[in-house]
Amino acid sequence: MTDEPTIAQKAPCPVDVEAGKTYYWCACGKSAKQPFCDGSHKGSAFAPVQFVPEQTGKVWFCGCKHSHKGALCDGTHKTL
Ligand code: FES
Ligand code: FES
Repeated sequence: MTDEPTIAQKAPCPVDVEAGKTYYWCACGKSAKQPFCDGSHKGSAFAPVQFVPEQTGKVWFCGCKHSHKGALCDGTHKTL
């Protein structure tokens, strides 16, 4: 898969998540409901990434779509 994701924003999206709930992070960057998938990836090489938090609390989802840690920000946005 060589397609580049769209950079939704060059910053993470803080979200209060619930333990055990399934979240679908947008990997393509085209969703209007960032950081989550709204189905806009259809027809592209991308698919949403499931994220199930172990703990309730705030997490920082990747908004730039270039993180090497999947759904969560790893600081890569600073290099874009
Ligand atoms: Fe981006 Fe679904 S809209 S992965
Ligand atoms: Fe993508 Fe930080 S927002 S790595």
